[in-house]
Amino acid sequence: MNGNFHWWQTGIIYQIYPRSFQDSNGDGIGDLPGIRQRLKYVQSLNVGAVWLSPIYPSPMHDFGYDVADYTDIHPMFGTLADFDALLADVHARGMKLILDLVPNHTSNEHPWFRESRSSRANPKRDWYIWRDPAPDGGPPNNWTSFFGGPAWTLDEQTGQYYLHQFVTQQPELNYRNPAVLEAMLGEMRFWLERGVDGFRVDVIWLMIKDAELRDEPVDPNWDGVNPHFRLQHIYTQDQPEVHDVIRRMRALLDEYDDRMMVGEIYLHNEQLMTYYGADFDEVHLPFNFQLILAPWEAQTVRRLVDQYEADLPAGGWPNWVLGNHDQHRVATRVGAAQARVAQMLLLTLRGTPTCYYGDELGMENVPIPPEFVQDPPAVNQPEIAHIVGRDPERTPMQWDASPNAGFAAPGVQPWLPLALDYAQRNVAVESGDPRSMLSFFRALTALRQSSAALTVGDYAAVDTGVENLFAYTRTHGDERLLVVLNFAGSTHRIDLSALGKEGEIVLSTGMESTGKLRLRALYVVGNEGIVLRL
Ligand code: NOJ
Repeated sequence: MNGNFHWWQTGIIYQIYPRSFQDSNGDGIGDLPGIRQRLKYVQSLNVGAVWLSPIYPSPMHDFGYDVADYTDIHPMFGTLADFDALLADVHARGMKLILDLVPNHTSNEHPWFRESRSSRANPKRDWYIWRDPAPDGGPPNNWTSFFGGPAWTLDEQTGQYYLHQFVTQQPELNYRNPAVLEAMLGEMRFWLERGVDGFRVDVIWLMIKDAELRDEPVDPNWDGVNPHFRLQHIYTQDQPEVHDVIRRMRALLDEYDDRMMVGEIYLHNEQLMTYYGADFDEVHLPFNFQLILAPWEAQTVRRLVDQYEADLPAGGWPNWVLGNHDQHRVATRVGAAQARVAQMLLLTLRGTPTCYYGDELGMENVPIPPEFVQDPPAVNQPEIAHIVGRDPERTPMQWDASPNAGFAAPGVQPWLPLALDYAQRNVAVESGDPRSMLSFFRALTALRQSSAALTVGDYAAVDTGVENLFAYTRTHGDERLLVVLNFAGSTHRIDLSALGKEGEIVLSTGMESTGKLRLRALYVVGNEGIVLRL
């Protein structure tokens, strides 16, 4: 099946948020031995790779995205020995392991920053971005943090400000200093030597800032909601020199056999595509977040899929994402009735799909009572917490109907509240129900992995003449599949006889239909998705 393709092209990536997958030691926080215990389940989802959100030592001001040591494991998650055991088990099950690399910033407790802030004369001073106060004593420029407030914090002791686009405790490294990149490459090498298969690189498009630190202009079209987006981030993001940095990272990966990196990049196609590199010498996959960001409408989605396909550089491998630890749960965004249609879309489009843990169960955002809110953007900006807060999509995995859903031992307090519906929506219940969301998901991933048309075949949109429907074919050799997705609750009859006389149902969201359907009068009921073999 794999032929000339790489694992990161044909395999499905499954993102685990380690704090929330499985607690094995009774602290209410997930850990590596816990993940290890659940690998059989992960494998049963027919995924090819597991991406772990950060597991490094960290004071957890941004739940691990503030790294205090790039080459160790937080004791909360386990030890390096636990990591090695996990990696070995992942490999033994024929899967790959991708670590989250957070090179743009460190924790303020990282030794590099401790040194850097110790004095203006410290050799590591220039490893971070320090500037004198503005003449009025305020921050050096108007840049803001994604998590609220200015992007600068004054260090009283040395009288300068340092830059951070996330929490104060996440000072940003200065990649204009070559020593910083060398150091980060060394940290990457540590994990590559240990056998990790790749990295998901955090905010890779932010890694270089304007050399002159110019003020950013106000966006005249700002919607007035999130203050960070009042400015157009033309000097803090997507700077031309970032590509030099990424090429060096890629060159390191290329010293090893079949490793990959996928970059977190929130940009429009034109800029996004540049991250493949002019010679395909940058990231293997620049994350494509359009299905998360666009309104859930059939024609909008069709247009964006067609446009993305058209914009891809020849030879660039596509990818699609429906959810991650920064975005509200897909089942909440599109509505429970559309959750299966959404997964069918993700898993039948051309390109590597990335799935977020729990979406296979149909997990929804969990309402977090104010006293339990932990995520910094929500804590810092209570008035927009319901929009920017990420706790609702980070709640514990729902394994069974026992107290704490099998995530943690009964009596333990999980770090975030469990979903109220966990007794019904969980792995045990859904595994026993052939028509459940989980059974559907498994059937879908099994279909994808057994079909060359779905994993590597061509994509072509099909006109149905119906606003609510999005249909397309996937073709490889003489295998040809038709996918029809109904984005609404109404039933439609369509004529697709241009594609042939009939098609055989291989999978439908309802999990009940079999047999052949006449394409001249194809009925698609509300919220239905269907895959037909032509
Ligand atoms: C993007 C990560 O996905 C997010 O969770 C984190 O808060 C920021 N980068 C800062 O590292």
